[in-house]
Amino acid sequence: MRDCEVQICLMNRETQNRPSCYRNQSMQLKRALEKNTSLKIKTAMCFGLCDKGPIVKVTANDNERTLTKADQKLVEQTVGELCQA
Ligand code: FES
Repeated sequence: MRDCEVQICLMNRETQNRPSCYRNQSMQLKRALEKNTSLKIKTAMCFGLCDKGPIVKVTANDNERTLTKADQKLVEQTVGELCQA
């Protein structure tokens, strides 16, 4: 497997009544990925796509992909494409 990094945005803006990844279940996605995969997940704070969350960024060597409305299946599929080539 290539050097692979998975970052998930956990920004929470509930008190500001603004969209955020946390409001779109990014913490639940992080916990599911940690429980069901061997991926190491890093926490990030806002990629500037707040109304499209949860946002996940997958980086492998010189390849990078930013996922919007991410779910476990999409993250695993992208990791498979970028990190296991
Ligand atoms: S709150 Fe996640 S991208 Fe801004």
